[in-house]
Amino acid sequence: MAVSHLLEDLHRAVPLIAPSLLACDLANLGREVRRVEEAGAEILHLDIMDGHFVPNLSFGLPVVEAVRRVTHLPLDVHLMISEPGRYLKRFRDAGADLLTIHIEVAPEPGELLEEIHALGAGAGLSLNPPTPVRLVEPYLDHCDLVLVMSVMPGFGGQEFDETALDKLRRLDSVRESNLLLSVDGGVNPETIGRCAGAGADILVAGTAFFSHEDYPQRLAELTSLARTAKDVQV
Ligand code: DX5
Ligand code: ZN
Repeated sequence: MAVSHLLEDLHRAVPLIAPSLLACDLANLGREVRRVEEAGAEILHLDIMDGHFVPNLSFGLPVVEAVRRVTHLPLDVHLMISEPGRYLKRFRDAGADLLTIHIEVAPEPGELLEEIHALGAGAGLSLNPPTPVRLVEPYLDHCDLVLVMSVMPGFGGQEFDETALDKLRRLDSVRESNLLLSVDGGVNPETIGRCAGAGADILVAGTAFFSHEDYPQRLAELTSLARTAKDVQV
C-alpha cells in the first residue's frame, strides 16, 4: 500500500494501540503476530536497539523481515540506533512502513527524514525524556509522526515519565492535522488516558499489552480508555 494511503488509514483510526513486540513471546514470534492481528490491532511497533544509543540489544533486520512475512499490518519501526542513516534503506527493504529516528543522534534530521520519504515510508522523529520539545519543532514539516518517549529507551516495563504529557500537549497545539503523535514507554491502563487526552494518537504498549493472555480483551480495554480520554478532550 502506498504510504499516503496507509497514513490516511491510520489518521482515520486513531486513537490506536501499537503493541510493542519487544514484550511478546519471542520464541513464538509468528504466532504472537497472528494473535495480535486477530485481536484487532491495526499497527505493530518494533524496537530496534544497537547496544550503543541505548544500553541494550533487541532485534534487527532479519526479525523485521520475518514479521513482514506473516502479516500485512503496518510495521512501525523505532530505530534506537546511533547511525540510522546507514540502515534506513535496509529496514525499508525488510518491510518497515514507518521509520522513526531519534533527534539525539540526528540533531538536524531534515535530510534523513526526507530520505525516509524517498524510500516510500512514513517518517518519524523521536525524543527522549530529557530532550526539549523545541528541538524537534523546526522539523515537524518533515515528519509524519513524532514519537514522544515516556521512558529512557532501552527496556520495556519501566515507569511512565510524566514529562511526556507536556510535550504531547505542546506538540498537539502546534501540529498540522496530518502529523501523528505517538507515545512510548510505561503506557498502561493508569497512564493511557492522560496520554490520549494530551494528544497522543498512537499509544505504544509492550508490557501492558502482552502481560495479559486475552489479547482481544486487552486491546479493547486500552482502546476504550484512550477513546474516552480523547472524547472528553474534544
Ligand atoms: C522502550 C521501547 C518501548 C518498549 C515499551 O525502549 O521503545 O517500545 O517496548 O515497553 P513498555 O510498554 O513495557 O514500557
Ligand atoms: Zn519503541
